[in-house]
Amino acid sequence: MYLQQLSITNFRNYPLARLDFSPHWNLFSGDNGSGKTTLLDAIHYLCLGKSYFHHSDLTSVKHDSDFFRIDGSFSDDQVLRMVCVYEAGGKKELQKNGVAYSRIANHVGLIPVVMVTPDDQLLIDEGSDERRRFMDGTISQIDHTYLENLIEYNRVLQQRNSALKHFAERRKTDRALIESYDRKLCDSGEKIFHLRTEYFSRMIPLIRQFHALLSSETEEVSAEYASVCNKENLAVALSASFEKDCITQRTNEGIHRDDFDFFLSKRSLKRFGSQGQKKSFLMSLKFAQYELIKREKNLLPLLLLDDLFDKLDEKRSRNIFRLIADNGFGQVFITDTHCDRVRELISQHPTSFTHYLLPDLKKCD
Ligand SMILES: Nc1ncnc2c1ncn2[C@@H]1O[C@H](COP(=O)(O)OP(=O)(O)O)[C@@H](O)[C@H]1O
Ligand SMILES: [Mg+2]
Repeated sequence: MYLQQLSITNFRNYPLARLDFSPHWNLFSGDNGSGKTTLLDAIHYLCLGKSYFHHSDLTSVKHDSDFFRIDGSFSDDQVLRMVCVYEAGGKKELQKNGVAYSRIANHVGLIPVVMVTPDDQLLIDEGSDERRRFMDGTISQIDHTYLENLIEYNRVLQQRNSALKHFAERRKTDRALIESYDRKLCDSGEKIFHLRTEYFSRMIPLIRQFHALLSSETEEVSAEYASVCNKENLAVALSASFEKDCITQRTNEGIHRDDFDFFLSKRSLKRFGSQGQKKSFLMSLKFAQYELIKREKNLLPLLLLDDLFDKLDEKRSRNIFRLIADNGFGQVFITDTHCDRVRELISQHPTSFTHYLLPDLKKCD
């Protein structure tokens, strides 16, 4: 599956733009602020129904406008036409071949995508939220029941937390109500735990494999999935923390606190890794994500590489480029402020490519 054509209207800095693409390499080059990342995010919208970068859709509506529209044609055996329309203050609609989805979540997984951005280092340096978001994004694209369970878990978790706040305001608790939430949390939570365990364990050897290809050093990569469910039954943990939850007015135990830890030579990457080690590791992690989705879905995800070479030295850039060119990746979109760098790399791996120069979207040969 690859994106043939993209039209965007009132999306960030673009009043109207129309582009067509190569099934292989596609380069967007231009100065900072010219709209490179915006094009990648428009593609992300078509794949997952939301922005990779922004929580709110309103952020992406062009200033002084009140809607945006993204329209893309994907080619597979047949043409798949995806349209995403958002009206300020209204609802977002995602259509497949002219028919609107009743829930955008139902689309997730149909057009798998992997985004690589300079902000990915947050995945290592920040708290567990970022790492859960990464794993959730990966597994949701592979297994639809995972996403359903995650949505359900988060819905019940919110209800449970509001009930706890309510108890504090009223100075009166209702244990039976909390127990009814707990049963639902356990039901979806345990399924999520099993799928996280399963897919994370499949991902670890892939991270090792890419790390060995990308890093000149020979540190041993290991990783651990930390969850309350590894230690005890979720129902027992929830019940035991009832009093604490009433005091803190939130749910202290559950798979919403899970974490994924990474180690190089048994040392925490987050605490002891150098900048260079973290960079190499992140690429290995993203490639492992790509490879896992590819294997499980038997589809080539779209690969969106935002300013990939910006902070990499030439040797690493070449290694990564060769790896993508040689390893059966599908359609790739890459942005760079300097087009020469990418064009030179592409020329060494002859393949079809398109190159748009921003902000005018001039097509270069
Ligand atoms: N809602 C919006 N309406 C109009 N312009 C916007 C909006 N949001 C961001 N921009 C502008 O869009 C431009 C493109 O940003 P971006 O895609 O991040 O550029 P690049 O990746 O090339 O550095 C920026 O100049 C930014 O100020
Ligand atoms: Mg950018």
